[in-house]
Amino acid sequence: MKFFVDTAEIDAIAELNDLGMVDGVTTNPSLIKKSGRDILEVTKEICDLVEGPVSAEVIATQADDMIAEGRKLAEIAENIAVKLPLTWDGLKACKVLSGEGKMVNVTLCFSANQALIAAKAGATFISPFIGRLDDINLDGMDLIEDIRTIYDNYGFDTQILAASIRSVNHVLESARIGADVMTAPPEVIKKLATHPLTDKGLETFLKDAEAAGIKIV
Ligand code: E4P
Repeated sequence: MKFFVDTAEIDAIAELNDLGMVDGVTTNPSLIKKSGRDILEVTKEICDLVEGPVSAEVIATQADDMIAEGRKLAEIAENIAVKLPLTWDGLKACKVLSGEGKMVNVTLCFSANQALIAAKAGATFISPFIGRLDDINLDGMDLIEDIRTIYDNYGFDTQILAASIRSVNHVLESARIGADVMTAPPEVIKKLATHPLTDKGLETFLKDAEAAGIKIV
């Protein structure tokens, strides 16, 4: 499973990237706002740092304007994936931009039918939003499972990018189902390394090491 980081914070991306854990980055207008940076500047910096796809989202809502914005974003670097909302105009823009050889991430996907039609329009990535479905008492994992089945049934190349991940369980379930990619905030990725029994076990080992006077260097 590929790991994308869902943030526009350079330091957080760099820390995970140094550990080889960053296969790509996703941003959206809310994350850009949170960073307090200019979208073109910060996106360029992220693209210089990370080798994999960096999603940058358009803000236009009409297909022609989305295409113009997508082309401008794609000029930032070779590894830009133009992020388009899953609307009819978004699909039109997806068809054109993917036809030009650009990576396209179709975002704000909340149904398997939306994922199916995005694949037909040539999406490189489809972003089903798990956490936001959970927020309204629907099961985001059912959606990932349905999309996996449909894409496998028909051999679609579109990669399932599990998004709106809020917990380590979301990561685990997405991996079990076979999502190609997951994107999560840095805090959630770091939490993957933690377990209370690891902390408890380490505490005991360190106490015993002290009691035994163990020294290594
Ligand atoms: C993905 O590309 C989105 O930027 C992100 O996962 C949305 O997450 P949220 O629902 O926690 O805002």
